[in-house]
Amino acid sequence: MSVEMPNWNDASVIANPYPHYRKLLDAQPFYWDPTADAWTILGYRDVAGMLKDPRFLTNRMKVFLPRIPEETRNRIKPLIDTMAHFMIYLDPPEHGRLRTPVVKAFDTRVVKNWRARIEVVTATLLDAVAQNDVIDLVPALAYPLPITMISEMLGLAAEDATQLKAWTNAVAAFIDRTTDPLVAQNALEAVAGFRGYFTKAIEERRAAPREDLLSYLLQLRDEHPDISDDDIIGNAVLILAAGHETTTALTGNGLLALARNPDQLALLRENPDLIESAVDEMLRYDPPIHRTGRLVSEPIEWNGVQLEKDKRVSVFLAAANRDGSVFPDPDRFDITRKTTAKHLSFSFGPHYCAGAGLGRTEAIVAIGEFVRRFPHFELESEPVYVNNLTLRCPGSVKVRVKRS
Ligand code: HEM
Repeated sequence: MSVEMPNWNDASVIANPYPHYRKLLDAQPFYWDPTADAWTILGYRDVAGMLKDPRFLTNRMKVFLPRIPEETRNRIKPLIDTMAHFMIYLDPPEHGRLRTPVVKAFDTRVVKNWRARIEVVTATLLDAVAQNDVIDLVPALAYPLPITMISEMLGLAAEDATQLKAWTNAVAAFIDRTTDPLVAQNALEAVAGFRGYFTKAIEERRAAPREDLLSYLLQLRDEHPDISDDDIIGNAVLILAAGHETTTALTGNGLLALARNPDQLALLRENPDLIESAVDEMLRYDPPIHRTGRLVSEPIEWNGVQLEKDKRVSVFLAAANRDGSVFPDPDRFDITRKTTAKHLSFSFGPHYCAGAGLGRTEAIVAIGEFVRRFPHFELESEPVYVNNLTLRCPGSVKVRVKRS
């Protein structure tokens, strides 16, 4: 049986892609999408299997470039050159030399040291809306907390946040829709902005090192001559971008799931210790990153289908998390869920999220404290989503606080 292939750029699909995932998971969890010129996979075992299989590479720049009209392609070369340094697009051996130190910079000990600061920023943000009857969770909490934290960790000035967010959104839009010339133009300008910004920041730290992540990255460059300034700049952009918008989505969508499921909100209100398992379920149920991509490096037979070399695969993490053969009653939001299989929201295999501990801790603190201060709330209006399925982030989630 074949089902209609959704247009993943359609705003109504982005607003609620889950019924489409359900239909495809039931009927066609692995198919060739001629419009995207890519294989699409949705089933849990296929997604997890591909993510850890070294025959599927992550560097797919070389195949999406020819899909961009030639005139645009030449113009956006500086954009591609910068993104080519992002470790999410690097395969061994280049990948490891950047990933190892970055993972260390966000390890459990580092995150534990930052937790008190996460709590202070959360408290300040929630103090500011303490008297409001209607709170838009995104501008009030879900956006400012992670951008503040990642900026402080990198050593960037708080007043630069709005500019950094605008550039991040432009680059994220390009990752979602690489063939749209207008999106490419915006991303090109954003990357030029980022490059100028980080080049200056690096020069300042080279002259006078500080106690921040940028200085740490620079020091690495001195210790490992094969790490270039472009590697530092590219991965500073990646860390900044990956380090905030994802957590905004987790916090916004997590609180949204509680507002839509009053029984689960009551359970959490009465059992605050459930917060860690609740955040894990929020990650499974409505993850920030819905899809990623891989490249077929050699002819591969997969599920009886011959995959040609150099074909792209669109890997749907969010759909895999709704695979009923792994997660019983998959469309139910259940903060006490106990499943042996892990959700795939932080990916799986060599590119497993380097900032998972930080993102998870920020959401635990933010959502836990919000529910403690505002134990009763309901959805005021339907959320509004940014036009991006890959990084599916709400721009607005308004809730009405109920006071007894
Ligand atoms: C809830 C929040 C987050 C989610 C859901 C998330 C999700 C992901 C996913 C799915 C990937 C891998 C993509 C792939 O396999 O192609 C990834 C990679 C990455 N993430 Fe996160 N992320 C989050 C927060 C963060 C934070 C706070 C940081 C800050 C440092 C971060 C930094 C990174 C980096 C550097 C990579 C690249 C890892 C590599 O390629 O080896 N992420 N993230």
